Amino acid sequence: MPQSLTHTQLVELADRFGTPLYVYHAEKIKEQYEKLTEGFSSLDSRFFFACKALTNINILKYIHSLGCGIDCSSINEVKLALHAGIPEEKILYTSNGISFAEIEEAVQSGVHINIDSLSNLEKFGKKYGNTYPVGVRLRPNILAGGNLKISTGHEKSKFGIPIDQLDLLKGIVAENSIRIKTLHIHTGSDIKDADVFVHGIKVLSELVSHFPDLEVIDLGGGFKVPYEPEDEETDIAFIADKLKKYLETHLFNKGRTFQLWFEPGKYLVSECGYLITQVNVLKDNGVQIFAGINSGLNHLIRPMMYDAYHHIVNLSNPHAEEKVYTVTGYICETDTFATDRLLHEVREGDYLVLYNAGAYGFEMSSNYNSRYKPAEVLVKEGDAFLIRRRDEFEDLLKNQITVV
Ligand code: LLP
Repeated sequence: MPQSLTHTQLVELADRFGTPLYVYHAEKIKEQYEKLTEGFSSLDSRFFFACKALTNINILKYIHSLGCGIDCSSINEVKLALHAGIPEEKILYTSNGISFAEIEEAVQSGVHINIDSLSNLEKFGKKYGNTYPVGVRLRPNILAGGNLKISTGHEKSKFGIPIDQLDLLKGIVAENSIRIKTLHIHTGSDIKDADVFVHGIKVLSELVSHFPDLEVIDLGGGFKVPYEPEDEETDIAFIADKLKKYLETHLFNKGRTFQLWFEPGKYLVSECGYLITQVNVLKDNGVQIFAGINSGLNHLIRPMMYDAYHHIVNLSNPHAEEKVYTVTGYICETDTFATDRLLHEVREGDYLVLYNAGAYGFEMSSNYNSRYKPAEVLVKEGDAFLIRRRDEFEDLLKNQITVV
């Protein structure tokens, strides 16, 4: 039975903690992690949770307790992971466009690092030479991902060192005796097609002979999760099998074996998360009925930023007949969560839940319109714990300095 919270549980949580409320279900994260480890069990693989998706300290600790490492995209995420008690060998810092000072700080922490520019690699080589084995993030020239905003491996992408610059890369490595232990790519998010991962490994396989110290091939994250009710699950075991076949026939047979690393974000935490909201106002403009909820793009920006679909259910009126609604937020600009969506008849005060809210939900939230960020709750083994209190008025003033 797939893990999920029932409508009754969600209503109880909304009654107890108030709305808007982010809820995360620990056992669902575990289920997802086990699908990854079981799917890839025939390969020497390691997983690092791309914590940019959700950085609450409790989530980091819980995911680490399952055996998973943490992938970071800023030095502050590295600090959060260390603060959560995660040992440095389980932390990976895959950088992008950062200052060299952050790389120096990461070296001091002793975490794994993937460097994504020739400029930083050169500075790294001058300072550390062969003393600190490091990874390089490459741009494989592969176009993949749910939409262009979340595609990162293509020829116009800012991410990584273009593979076309291999000679320059090798020059810097040789001149400074850098020990390259990892080749990394991340082609994008929302990828279901196994061939994208095989294409990635193919590109990297052609490069391994240039790096004698190589231990790890890191294929990044991007495993798609179902968002719409008719979406199918990504078949992890199928992807693993295809990768294994490729590796065995093209790489491992030449006497070189590597660990495979992955950095799943959405796959681990998207489906565990729920954003429970309440209907403030109903408005019938003659053409559409708007259900205006007590949330907005300040809490969940994905629909407006990526045209992302989030399934919505009216928790409060489950047996009523279905009608068509456009669900909007309370931000003073267009913030539509869903257009012309069938929902059980909505009344003011009803609880509406948005699904798949765990990944890039709270994490991308803001205080726009001076609204409070929601509280976060973790449900684990049947108990609910408040893991972040709702903002209060003082939080809006916290860093402001009155000078006039
Ligand atoms: N590794 C690297 C280097 C990444 O840049 C990312 C995501 C991941 C791993 C994790 O990707 P995932 O498994 O979550 O697809 N805010 C967007 C997604 C942006 C992803 C950025 N990088 C969204 O809500 O769809």
